Amino acid sequence: SSVLRSVKTLAKPAGARGYSSESVPDRKVAVLGAAGGIGQPLALLMKLNPLVSRLALYDIANTPGVAADVGHINTRSEVAGYMGNDQLGQALEDSDVVIIPAGVPRKPGMTRDDLFNINAGIVKDLCSAIAKYCPNAIVNMISNPVNSTVPIAAEVFKKAGTYNEKKLFGVTTLDVVRAKTFYAGKANVNVAEVNVPVVGGHAGITILPLFSQATPKANLADEDIKALTKRTQDGGTEVVEAKAGKGSATLSMAYAGAIFADACLKGLNGVPDVVECSFVQSTVTELPFFASKRAWKN
Ligand code: NAD
Ligand code: LMR
Repeated sequence: SSVLRSVKTLAKPAGARGYSSESVPDRKVAVLGAAGGIGQPLALLMKLNPLVSRLALYDIANTPGVAADVGHINTRSEVAGYMGNDQLGQALEDSDVVIIPAGVPRKPGMTRDDLFNINAGIVKDLCSAIAKYCPNAIVNMISNPVNSTVPIAAEVFKKAGTYNEKKLFGVTTLDVVRAKTFYAGKANVNVAEVNVPVVGGHAGITILPLFSQATPKANLADEDIKALTKRTQDGGTEVVEAKAGKGSATLSMAYAGAIFADACLKGLNGVPDVVECSFVQSTVTELPFFASKRAWKN
């Protein structure tokens, strides 16, 4: 009936417009650290992504509850929870994209480098398992300090003989998200239309928002650009201080992580012109790793 047809049309997810669900390939996404402050909302957002067919939620604790909860949502992906090192291999097997928000967050007064000692070990172990169980997966590294965890991951993969520089990404999307929000507020333009490249790294002054290249163009004074730059560079600290000992950005990070993972899935699926800024192995400067715009090429 026509009523049924129109209901079906309405029920079609916006992201799938233009092609039927049958033409969307199966994709498994694993989240490591899925029961954490970022992990949980990221699990939710990945469950809402129609490009995901299987969602593996891994953590050292509490994943059965998170997986049962998220798994009741009536979207495409099948959700499974995995807890503890014994189940890490199963969580990773056949993954196309692995997102890593595992590790400790900052407290007021700390720098991201203060997390190195604990998080370097966590990332090393998780990447060793990735090399073993899903060596071809795309890795999205969220754990801090990103400027160090990405090179650590690269070394682990090199040692295992599985390194593919095109598949290792430090997630700096939150810097882009912040730069867009702050620019739109100052320039008084529609935030949904704003683009701001952010290059460099993911800590303090290594975060370099290029407001000169921001669109839509706005005639901002030099001091406005300086203030926007500083606010973007200090965005993480702003949240750490506001949370007053209860951790760092989780919700905005989950949003940013979901955007970046979606770009990876689109790139894998052959969607043309997918471009995001990300901290990657690089020849743009003399530094071995540098965040810049990265276009997907299969
Ligand atoms: P959190 O403490 O709330 O959650 C971390 C989770 O990791 C916990 O559930 C913990 O059990 C888990 N975990 C610890 N060791 C693990 C292991 N070996 N394997 C799997 N899981 C393990 O912290 P959070 O707020 O979610 O932050 C996580 C990390 O993300 C921190 O390092 C933080 O600095 C970083 N972060 C990065 C960005 C970015 O822009 N890249 C933004 C925000 C936070
Ligand atoms: C952020 O930018 O919010 C994260 O890197 C977390 C932090 O420690 O600031």
